[in-house]
Amino acid sequence: MKAFVTGITGQDGSYLAELLLSKGYKVYGVVRRSSSENYDRIAHIRDRIQLLQADLLDQVSLSQALAYSMPDEIYNLAAQSFVPTSWAQPVLTAEFTGTGVTRMLEAVRTTCPKAKFYQASSSEMFGKVQETPQNELTRFYPRSPYGVAKTYGHYITVNYRESYGLHAVSGILFNHESPRRGLEFVTRKITNGVARIKLGLDREIRLGNLDAKRDWGFAGDYVKAMWLMVQNQKPTDYVVATGVAHSVRDFAKIAFATVGLNWENFVVSDQAFMRPAEVELLLGNPGRAEKELGWKQETSFEKMIELMVQADLKRHSV
Ligand code: NAP
Ligand code: GDD
Repeated sequence: MKAFVTGITGQDGSYLAELLLSKGYKVYGVVRRSSSENYDRIAHIRDRIQLLQADLLDQVSLSQALAYSMPDEIYNLAAQSFVPTSWAQPVLTAEFTGTGVTRMLEAVRTTCPKAKFYQASSSEMFGKVQETPQNELTRFYPRSPYGVAKTYGHYITVNYRESYGLHAVSGILFNHESPRRGLEFVTRKITNGVARIKLGLDREIRLGNLDAKRDWGFAGDYVKAMWLMVQNQKPTDYVVATGVAHSVRDFAKIAFATVGLNWENFVVSDQAFMRPAEVELLLGNPGRAEKELGWKQETSFEKMIELMVQADLKRHSV
């Protein structure tokens, strides 16, 4: 089996590539041209995957990469994924995260229409939530240009499934984290800060809304759900979540406690990290994925935080 992964240099792409390799897939990964290589997350598997240069902004490059690899499965994970940047760069976010999905789908339709397609949809689409917990039928109400772009990407995937009969699925994944999470996202910002404070390299962490609540899971568990969704006979969309929400404050409290410190002595409130329109609460119901795909969360919230803090301590200790 051959798999094609966009966003392979990102958090999820690196875990998914490991999973696919462990299952015996030949893995093709899309990377975009850059003046310096950005392959840290895939350095340990670099010699076992084949990288192809293409960009979500460039239709021809996507079609050529697919024509070259002719994959059985395609995982479209590439996106501008940081919500605050989507207010600063709304048009670019729409191009990457929204229209980029259409470019991928067009490339699939015209090059390898029998291939199975996975779209990385997001719980950000629920935004100002219309019911709690959120499930596959909950109405979307995106609150950021990123959420709006993802909602477009979601519906265009559904549309290509219905218009052209593509085996295309969308995974509506709630927040998932790991030691490979980008440093700007709140969980990694906290665990990195905790490690630096513990080692005497920093004195505080400046954060925005401490009351925001997220349903946080471990990225390594969530890529398994992506794969299971693609193997499903009938192409259908699923919510992937843990079913438990925690506040940013709770996250900070636990992260500091893992190194024997009290969070209140180090966390400073900073308006600069508040958002123009906030998503206050995300809480998913993974019932359908558990029942129909046999997927289950394996790594607890506390265990994940510990993994992240330990990895950051190790990184800063060398
Ligand atoms: P990430 O770490 O930010 O990775 C994003 C990837 O997209 C990187 O490999 C990046 O490449 C690539 N990319 C960005 N723009 C591109 C372009 N124009 N052409 C080609 N590649 C491009 O994101 P992640 O956390 O792994 O998330 C993976 C996907 O799931 C994203 O679509 C995200 O929006 C979605 N999602 C994530 C979560 C979550 O909690 N992590 C939840 C729901 C949905 P560079 O390395 O070159 O920048
Ligand atoms: N980044 C950040 N930095 N967030 C902060 C901070 C801070 O200093 N302080 C408080 N927060 C709050 C944000 O306001 C938000 O409510 C919450 O922490 C989580 O922020 P992020 O970690 O940046 O993630 P996100 O929920 O906005 O988006 C992530 O999850 C989505 C799925 O729901 C990203 O991975 C998206 O790509 C993904 O689709």
